[in-house]
Amino acid sequence: MKSTSALLALVALLPAFTQAQTAQWGQCGGIGFTGSTTCVAGSVCTKQNDYYSQCIPGAQAPPATTAPPATSVPPATGAPSKPSSAPGSTPTTVPSASNPFNGFEIYLSPYYAAEVAAAAAKITDPTLAAKAASVAKIPTFTWFDTVDKVPQLGTYLADAQSIQKSTGKKQIVQIVVYDLPDRDCAAKASNGEFSIANNGQANYEDYIDKLVAQIKQFPDVRVVAVYEPDSLANLVTNLNVAKCANAKTTYLACANYALKALTAAGVYTYMDAGHAGWLGWPANLTPAAQLFAQVYKDAGSSPFLKGLATNVANYNALSVATPDPITQGDPNFDELHYIQALAPALQQQGFPATFIVDQGRSGQQNLRQQWGDWCNIKNAGFGTRPTTNTGSPLIDSIVWVKPGGECDGTSNSSSPRFDSTCALSDAHQPAPEAGTWFQAYFENLVSKANPPL
Ligand code: BGC
Repeated sequence: MKSTSALLALVALLPAFTQAQTAQWGQCGGIGFTGSTTCVAGSVCTKQNDYYSQCIPGAQAPPATTAPPATSVPPATGAPSKPSSAPGSTPTTVPSASNPFNGFEIYLSPYYAAEVAAAAAKITDPTLAAKAASVAKIPTFTWFDTVDKVPQLGTYLADAQSIQKSTGKKQIVQIVVYDLPDRDCAAKASNGEFSIANNGQANYEDYIDKLVAQIKQFPDVRVVAVYEPDSLANLVTNLNVAKCANAKTTYLACANYALKALTAAGVYTYMDAGHAGWLGWPANLTPAAQLFAQVYKDAGSSPFLKGLATNVANYNALSVATPDPITQGDPNFDELHYIQALAPALQQQGFPATFIVDQGRSGQQNLRQQWGDWCNIKNAGFGTRPTTNTGSPLIDSIVWVKPGGECDGTSNSSSPRFDSTCALSDAHQPAPEAGTWFQAYFENLVSKANPPL
């Protein structure tokens, strides 16, 4: 054993080696960073961008001092460039600025596939039934909207892992993290199981811990997450609603906890950012960019916190030649305009975000009375299929986040979660509770699909 004085001499000579070492995936450098730049054995401090270096497992990565940035920081006014993908030898959880969807297959949610199979079996017209059944092969996200569902994630990850092994095709499991206390604070239809007044934050942290524990068991399966639909957007525009104002501190604390945990586990995460008809209004863009960038920085500016998800469970088109009249007054009349306006504002705030866009139910347009209508819109059809061929370097993938056929909210006015939006004239009725199967609506989505099924 070395003597204390010898140790002190060593400390003076080699300060870097005596600092606490940074754990795998921890931050080890970047502008303003004051912690340890030394990684634990088996991982290398790798520069991701000027603001963030990270301890990446494996010896292949070059040291921080010589590594080219894996994330190139685009100019404030331009679109992020798409650097080439990470070296082939890196594990799937090594973050890179490249599109996390590239080179991967999306694992098909067995939960949704079962819902769709059961629904198709109820359809008597054989042509429609066959079209309906084909929806089971279109990848959608799986929503973890209650803590009870979390163990299913382990089953899906194990399944994805075995598909990956047997086919050699790398799999992505797509999840929605959706269980905030006082959830859906500006509406009623999707109010959740936890309340702030009743231990909500601790319950939520437990939910996140359980989710992350499942994910960590399968480090070779890539997970992409949409984080908490509507929550942060509500903090941008709905603080006049008492429930949202009351939830602000808790939402931010929960988001910080969850985003750190998810990104530390290598989950590529997109925070929900509402849609063009919400945060896309010019007056909302800057406050939105400020909030999302702050949340990103507070969570450690992880490159796994990839960007934002838009139009989740909504009905807007990605790009239209002629704006729907209900969008009048908003120059960002579709998701592409919204994203192109938001991205530079985020960049200016230090968040080099890229996007995913839900197009699951956006096949038909010009259906709504008002842009704010969001509940079971009549005559909606399934939309563009998930693809990385998005036409924009800002958009990593078109995705289906809302599982089409699951309800947006009940039209039963005596339900505690009745939201009057679900009884408007452009809402399909009668409708069951949010998240439950809505057969008539599903059949409409199938018959109105565009492109057709
Ligand atoms: C519901 C959730 C459901 C999700 C996906 C939300 O509106 O509140 O319970 O999981 O939609 O269908």
